[in-house]
Amino acid sequence: MAIGTGLTEYLESWAGGDAVRKAVAEAVFALAEAGIELAGVCGQGAINPDQGAIVGNNSGGDAQKALDVRSHEIVVAALRRRGVGMVASEEADEAEVLTPGGLVAVATDPLDGSSNIDTNVSVGTIFSILPVEGEASPFLVPGSRQLAAGFVVYGPHTDIVLTLGEGTDIFTLDRSNGAFVLVAEKVSIAPETAEYAVNASNYRHWAAGLRNYVDDCLAGKDGPLEKNYNMRWVGSLVADASRILSRGGVFLYPGDARKGYTHGRLRILYEANPVAMVIEQCGGKATDGTQRILDIDVTELHQRTGLVFGAASEVERIGLYIANPERRGEDSPLFGSRGLFMS
Ligand code: F6P
Ligand code: MN
Repeated sequence: MAIGTGLTEYLESWAGGDAVRKAVAEAVFALAEAGIELAGVCGQGAINPDQGAIVGNNSGGDAQKALDVRSHEIVVAALRRRGVGMVASEEADEAEVLTPGGLVAVATDPLDGSSNIDTNVSVGTIFSILPVEGEASPFLVPGSRQLAAGFVVYGPHTDIVLTLGEGTDIFTLDRSNGAFVLVAEKVSIAPETAEYAVNASNYRHWAAGLRNYVDDCLAGKDGPLEKNYNMRWVGSLVADASRILSRGGVFLYPGDARKGYTHGRLRILYEANPVAMVIEQCGGKATDGTQRILDIDVTELHQRTGLVFGAASEVERIGLYIANPERRGEDSPLFGSRGLFMS
């Protein structure tokens, strides 16, 4: 599709007369409509003083803000209007039937990164579109079953990052007419990188392999990895993922020794799986540290997973560090386990 094509034409042409594809397209339209509304709501900032107010806790134990609840309502209402069969949301304990007989189900984090909302930093809506087949829960399947996935980012511009399983494309909202326009097609992520994203305040809780990797990044050109690394951490998954789509890099949120963090912080169904599909469709990789995210069995709606994604070679390298806590720059003649600097 040509750059500049509108989302409506793009989806209608992809769906053709196929019933399941049409249902996927309707779900994406719903998310685009909710995205336009949420971009407006987020853009109000402190004009609407209540939106940062904490109103409770979600099932994952995270503080739930008024805006989280509003976002959930906006996304669910849009999905219902567009005939989506079922929804599972970070902000609801149980999945909900919206349209009996609907052909697709949507799992969503309606407002990812909401802890950043008061700070005028990008937040977003993450979505995973799955087939509804028979009586079984459409959500309790591995992420490899996703029909489409992506996220909307509310930042300086409002973007939809979307994969229908044939590459990852990006649309930007033209605020002059309310249409999403294709701005990047078949995005690719370079396999090598020298930029990583991790919340380093958790260093003391990490397993040895991950500490070794970050130590080696910090050692830069003089260390076993023999290059200087840069570090970035926004704290909104959608924003860190957007940066990786635009200039490469890796993101790490591993499991750690803190209570409740054995499997990291992020939820597989509506955070890790959709991001993993987007990243794989760009030629990148996504693992829980060692295992491919999209192969993991989802057995609970709010299941957590470690998450490492981005540049393919660097994700593989991190996997080797995690699987072999003894590893120190095995590729380097000076630092490998038989190298000069090892005793
Ligand atoms: O949704 C969870 C989330 O807010 C992500 O958007 C983000 O990547 C992560 O948590 C940040 O976690 P922490 O506050 O521990 O750095
Ligand atoms: Mn989130």
